[in-house]
Amino acid sequence: MTHDLLNTSIGQSEAEWQARYDRALAHTFGPPRRVLARAEGVHVWDVSGKRYTDFLSGIAVCVLGHNHPAVTQAIARQLGTVDHISNFFATVPQIELAERLAALATASAPAGTPARVFFGNSGAEANEAGFKLTRLTGRTRVVAMVDSFHGRTMGALSLTHKLAYRQPFAPLVPGVDFVPFGDVAALEAAVDGQTAAVVVEPVQGESGVVPAPAGYLAAAREITARHGALLWVDEVQCGLGRCGEWLVSVADAVTPDIVTLAKGLGNGFPIGACIATGRAADLFTPGSHGSTFGGNPVGAAAGLAVLDTLRDQHLVERARQLGDHLVGAIEALQHPLIVQVRGRGLLRGVVLSQPVASAVNDALLDAGWIVNAPRPDVLRIAPPLIVTEADLDAFASALGEALTRGNEGAGPRSGGAA
Ligand SMILES: Cc1ncc(COP(=O)(O)O)c(C=O)c1O
Repeated sequence: MTHDLLNTSIGQSEAEWQARYDRALAHTFGPPRRVLARAEGVHVWDVSGKRYTDFLSGIAVCVLGHNHPAVTQAIARQLGTVDHISNFFATVPQIELAERLAALATASAPAGTPARVFFGNSGAEANEAGFKLTRLTGRTRVVAMVDSFHGRTMGALSLTHKLAYRQPFAPLVPGVDFVPFGDVAALEAAVDGQTAAVVVEPVQGESGVVPAPAGYLAAAREITARHGALLWVDEVQCGLGRCGEWLVSVADAVTPDIVTLAKGLGNGFPIGACIATGRAADLFTPGSHGSTFGGNPVGAAAGLAVLDTLRDQHLVERARQLGDHLVGAIEALQHPLIVQVRGRGLLRGVVLSQPVASAVNDALLDAGWIVNAPRPDVLRIAPPLIVTEADLDAFASALGEALTRGNEGAGPRSGGAA
């Protein structure tokens, strides 16, 4: 479809679409930053035809960029063969994707370690499955992290730390204790024979792209194993190449009992996965969980196309190199507002010395760049893994200008969370 054709069919102005959005959509997100009409590769276009370079990838989703032909073709092919079936039946892509994910999660485990996958349609659903699995251990306490984010459904929200998200929905699921992220001694003190699981993000994306300190996941593995508790690693945001590793936990020499995935898995087609390894692989039994759409063949075909493309184009390794390049380009700005660039691979947080991330975010958008501000003093950058070094350099230079502009016109405006 050409851009002109799209514009003709869109018809109305940005302001008119915004007004219609305001009347028709639940007010969970605030006003949309723009109404978008088209997306391709690293670019999106709004209804007025203005082009933006998407360095957020739909919040760390489109690892292959928008409308990647491998994914759209796989989806179209699958829709034309088997579109949907009930879970009384199985399909080939569902089985193949489960095998591929199981192999990823057990890549550093002893040969023959079992792993089984439950599919849902989002990160929160993957985490609901994980939460239910922990209950099937016969224990009811879960240790989660301060500043964690695991989703907005009631179970996932119960594991999410942020008070503003939790408070209106109390009472939440009981039995969750929060410990400071990255503090081994605090974890040691919190885990005991009552603990069903410890749940941790290897990189806390929503709270400002904070990576776990080196050795923390290994320590969590050792502590949970000693107490007979499960180690559950939420790689919904950081997994599948985003951080320059297939799975951050496995790269850090840890085999989790539970890994949850979503976001990049379908490159924009909704799919989530909860992978249980070792003894956890046998906890679900017929009737203990389910989903009408979970494991649907179209999502599974999208997932397979993503995994194939990441592998064939060596994009996981490339994300690591590109991440280093991006950090180098931003640090070379030597901008007085930048305190630190943290994160892994192509999931990066630019930490600012002032709470002006929202204003800088707005200045970047005006200049045609999409990122977001998960904290008042942090910008999150998560470009598609197909970006070039030239894209990263162009972004760094736009960031330098936006930092200066944003600092001048700072005010609490946009930001946003998943
Ligand atoms: C680590 C993590 N877990 C879970 C979720 C929830 O995923 P979803 O929004 O697909 O429900 C997110 C979303 O940002 C996330 O970053």
